[in-house]
Amino acid sequence: MKRKEFLKLLSIGTGVATFSPGLLACTSDGNTDLALPDNAFSRSLVFPEEIRANDFELAAETARHTLAGDTSSDVYTLNGSLPSPTIRVKRGESLAIDYQNRIDQESIIHWHGLIVPPDMDGHPKDAVQPGQTYNYRFDIDQRAGTYWYHPHPDKLTGPQVYRGLGGLFIIEDEEEQALNLPSGDYELPLIVQDKRFNDSGQMTYNLNRMDRRMGFFGNTILVNGMQAPYHEVSNRFYRLRLLNGSNARILDFSFSDDSSFYVIGSDGGLHDRPYEISSITLTPGERADLLVDFSGYEAGKKVRMTAEPRNGMGGMMNGMMDGGRNGNRWWNRGRRRNNRDNDGGNMCCGRDGAGNSGGAFLEFRITNKEEDSFRLPQALTELSFPDEADADRTRRIDLTMEMMRGPAIDGKFFEMLRADQTVQQGALEVWEFNNRTGMPHPMHLHATQFKVLDRSRGSLAPHERGWKDTVRVERRETVRMLTKFDAEKGLYAFHCHNLEHEDNGMMANFEIV
Ligand code: C2O
Ligand code: CU
Ligand code: CU
Repeated sequence: MKRKEFLKLLSIGTGVATFSPGLLACTSDGNTDLALPDNAFSRSLVFPEEIRANDFELAAETARHTLAGDTSSDVYTLNGSLPSPTIRVKRGESLAIDYQNRIDQESIIHWHGLIVPPDMDGHPKDAVQPGQTYNYRFDIDQRAGTYWYHPHPDKLTGPQVYRGLGGLFIIEDEEEQALNLPSGDYELPLIVQDKRFNDSGQMTYNLNRMDRRMGFFGNTILVNGMQAPYHEVSNRFYRLRLLNGSNARILDFSFSDDSSFYVIGSDGGLHDRPYEISSITLTPGERADLLVDFSGYEAGKKVRMTAEPRNGMGGMMNGMMDGGRNGNRWWNRGRRRNNRDNDGGNMCCGRDGAGNSGGAFLEFRITNKEEDSFRLPQALTELSFPDEADADRTRRIDLTMEMMRGPAIDGKFFEMLRADQTVQQGALEVWEFNNRTGMPHPMHLHATQFKVLDRSRGSLAPHERGWKDTVRVERRETVRMLTKFDAEKGLYAFHCHNLEHEDNGMMANFEIV
């Protein structure tokens, strides 16, 4: 490829043509093609252990763990497991959780999507040193849904999530239980993350300047900490609780045969009804509750779940720098459908045939016939959102790019105790995220669930129409959301959920007064 074309691709890609090609050349330290190993889909998917208790400990520790291939890597485990255990609680319960920090750096746990008092929220100011414990005491009083939890120390969230800390936090309530959604063996928690493995098969996290600007992108995709596992399912309905737990990678999820499925909930719980879709885009931090009907498959059939990269440079640069030799890698794979203007990473190659995309990360094997009494409900819940006309004010938040340090909020970088926005308790506000940068930012607010009103560069996907705590703001796009600040008074964070952006200071505080 000629240099001129190359640069053109760059500018089509992520709008970072302002960087010098010299910088771009050193994007990745991994050079092994780990797209799909020879033994792909030969190990069965493991699910994180589940904690169903009100009073328990979470102990973070350093460990060695084999994630892909047979080389072990330095990881962090929680209660000895990776990914971290799934916490399952009921609305109305009171929790006592002691977080024991036994890793080699300060840490604190944040309950993403939960509305808890400020000193229970895992703000970076509350981080505890190695050897110390943070005691959480809070009540669960919000909708059933798929929330999650993860470390949140200042400048260290990226490495700690990357090395394995973070799990699902499931809230159940009576309304949801009455729907009799698939549960037990028919409810599958799926944490999907991209990781970078080097030549010797070690998982690495060394940030260069480009990674700090763009985010850290992997060359391999893992589900529940495993590369390309399979899972046996019966031909009936399943519920998938899907989390994009990547540091920076936005992913388009679908099935290898393009079959449709239903989205029934998002960050903040159930939708009004099931929506039939055939792909779903999730940014880091976003969750989706899905129903998948396997009853149309004969026993013995296989179908794979795929995740196509929607953003990120690492793969593209590698593929081009070595003349396309690595065109088969997962992160060089094309997105098949939409948003071709968003990322240049797919221009050098197509998919290598149905069901065998490099984006496949999980194989479902349909086994026995089973009587399934579950019928897809017409309605799930009554959703009522506040009215935009009642908003007390509109607040405009600019997402900016600072020459020297990278992406920021309103031109500023995070300061631990500075209140960047002051909000009256109980106020109903429109927040307008105005992305003036050339890359997407998943914006997240603590201590609230919001309603996305609109986006300037497209319409809202079905899963964006429910309650949300994280929303994708595309490059040069304005996204408006509406939220009521009902949490306890105090200081809370809001930030980009691209964890390298967050760690680099694309975070601010709002204070409820
Ligand atoms: Cu999931 Cu402040 O983060
Ligand atoms: Cu959060
Ligand atoms: Cu960002």
